[in-house]
Amino acid sequence: MGKFLENLHRSLLLGVFLTLVAVTALHRSSVTEPLWAAYFLMYVHVFFGILWIGLLYYFNFVQTPTMPKIPAELKPGISKYIAPEALFWFRWSAAFTVLFGLVTAWVKDDIVMTLEVRAPYTTIGIGMWLAIIMAANVWFVIWPNQKKSLGIVPADDAAKAKAARVGMIASRINTVLSIPMLYCMVMQGAALNIG
Ligand code: HEM
Repeated sequence: MGKFLENLHRSLLLGVFLTLVAVTALHRSSVTEPLWAAYFLMYVHVFFGILWIGLLYYFNFVQTPTMPKIPAELKPGISKYIAPEALFWFRWSAAFTVLFGLVTAWVKDDIVMTLEVRAPYTTIGIGMWLAIIMAANVWFVIWPNQKKSLGIVPADDAAKAKAARVGMIASRINTVLSIPMLYCMVMQGAALNIG
């Protein structure tokens, strides 16, 4: 079992298999219902949302505050190996969260009313716009600046330092926005029932 779990892809497949077991045991008779499909899409959406925001919190809670304490000769371990890998999963999980979030809105709610932030979808509408701003921040501010600061694209020392600062502030803005965003995501169900 230990050998099996050493491989991330096999571990993920095991998780998918156990989910299929849960689906079969719990919801065999409902899988043909459109409502089940809508909730399943939301489940996939939340999976990518956890991956994205989990990595955002890793950067903000762990990596950024620890970087100044790491001895100079060890810093490349983070900047050359860990950060580029984390940023790969970070930006693609952001993209897939948006994709599956919009598909969920299309299937489960009314996507036009949601995007227009109209009743009864004002709560999720605000959450979606906050998350769309956050995803744009990832792709158009954080990632281009991190590419410079990590040396993935050429830049002189002054440009690298500036890019690191801009990337850090943008990442902090996303951490701030994530808190009301998550409130709006989770409270849409309650808002529909209690207003
Ligand atoms: C642009 C990005 C996003 C879009 C378009 C979006 C859209 C949606 C939609 C339409 C729903 C269904 C709401 C309902 O009818 O009840 C939903 C649910 C949810 N979303 Fe997002 N979302 C986005 C980003 C995120 C992020 C980053 C997270 C972080 C984890 C997240 C977490 C959740 C959760 C936990 C739910 C389930 C709420 C519940 O039923 O309790 N979403 N999202």
